[in-house]
Amino acid sequence: MVVFGACLFLVLLVGLVLRSIFNHYIPLFLNLGLTPKGCFGLPLIGETLSLLKPHSSNSLGSFIQQHCSRYGKIFKSHVFGYPAIVSCDQELNYFILQNEDKLFQCSYPKPIHGVLGKFSMLVVVGDTHKRLRNTALTLVSTSKSKPEYLNDIDREATRILNSWETKKQVIFCEEARKFTFNVIVKQVLGLTPDDPQTTKILEDFLTFMKGLISFPLKIPGTPYARAVKARIRISSTVKAIVEERRRNGEKKGDFLETLLSANTLSEDEKVSFVLDSLLGGYETTSLLMAMAVHFLGQSPIALRQLKLEHQNIRKDKKKDDYLNWEDYRKMEFTQNVINEALRCGNIVKFVHRKAIKDVRFKGYLIPCGWKVLPVFSAVHLDPSLHQDALQFNPWRWENQNQTCKKFTPFGGGPRFCPGSELAKVETAFFLHHLVLNFRWEPKEVDTPMAYPYVEFLRGLPLEVERILVESSI
Ligand code: HEM
Repeated sequence: MVVFGACLFLVLLVGLVLRSIFNHYIPLFLNLGLTPKGCFGLPLIGETLSLLKPHSSNSLGSFIQQHCSRYGKIFKSHVFGYPAIVSCDQELNYFILQNEDKLFQCSYPKPIHGVLGKFSMLVVVGDTHKRLRNTALTLVSTSKSKPEYLNDIDREATRILNSWETKKQVIFCEEARKFTFNVIVKQVLGLTPDDPQTTKILEDFLTFMKGLISFPLKIPGTPYARAVKARIRISSTVKAIVEERRRNGEKKGDFLETLLSANTLSEDEKVSFVLDSLLGGYETTSLLMAMAVHFLGQSPIALRQLKLEHQNIRKDKKKDDYLNWEDYRKMEFTQNVINEALRCGNIVKFVHRKAIKDVRFKGYLIPCGWKVLPVFSAVHLDPSLHQDALQFNPWRWENQNQTCKKFTPFGGGPRFCPGSELAKVETAFFLHHLVLNFRWEPKEVDTPMAYPYVEFLRGLPLEVERILVESSI
């Protein structure tokens, strides 16, 4: 037994030494430069568990903090089964995002492909990605300022808030999810909240989401296996809706009609596109709303200024008037609140890329085939880039360029989130009705945690009270 243990130890040791030679010295001999400092951690799992260790999403987490102070903002590691370069440097992050498909490529872990499907926009690369993305951009740009879409958002926000009338307490994340799900299902598939197909999609979608973040074990009954099945069921529901629409030949001039007429996409790609929109438009947007509410709870002055802005917008409108695009353009302080909630909340901590060529940056070598992780939260919370970085301060965004390198909540380059504006309009409209009609207090402390997917552990319970004088609903 002792001999066996010693042999195993020796094999692991030799493995580590060989790996170090391959990754460190060979590039040096070939005069390619040095990989950054860092550590590969344990055999096989490397440092994956330390990277994924939960922490408040308004903080760096001990892994990033310790590694940055030991090795600097760019370091090497071994995560998700690959040697990796982890970047907490705004210049390198920008360089990675801008060089998609040239030097780097989107590369999410294989199990995620299993759940999302092979046509998902987060999985496809090259020309297929360009084709799918062009459709997404056309659809978003034609629908975002359309009165029908904006009216749907407005109507859904008031519907949810009216249901709070008799409540003393709400679990905000659940309410926000109801809102964003109903908005996106209406927008993409033309379904209303009472439609039986909406309930069916929602049930399957919850199973799907649980699997997306679970351990990828494809054994019947595990969350992962159930998610793969749920995805197949959602696909067939979507296919049935598509076929029904084709049969009646109804002309609604909506998202689905435009999508169906896109002859650059195959049938499977269209279905996958609907799934991407549901997935992208649901959880992230509801989290943004929860972040805004959470951080506003810590800043009464910001809340007061926000309320004033919305009272001014409401002043010129009748009680039942819908909000329109001009109103949205006037919501300047609201935009600052949203930006600051995105910066402090870090809904997407990092994205997955791999180097498709040997790349040299700031004297470092990023070897071909290595994983590359641009960590957005590290840049968002960097005190050398954002003064008092841990403070929620919406005024910092006054007269600031929001598309700068130090602020990338929606990613950047050719994979910049196509739904960013939709998420912001939804949040702004919901906040409009919320601040004009309700007072709220957190029921208990509930900090958003990065697992690294972000979650409020208790769902952000709030005590709510209707304001009787001013009303928009
Ligand atoms: C607060 C809300 C949101 C956040 C923080 C967010 C964040 C992101 C980020 C960081 C990416 C880049 C991923 C990468 O580079 O690997 C992304 C991509 C994407 N997002 Fe969003 N998103 C949000 C809302 C939405 C909405 C509302 C939709 C759809 C209606 C959407 C659909 C997508 C899609 C389809 C992609 C893939 C784009 C591509 O690969 O070209 N997202 N999102």
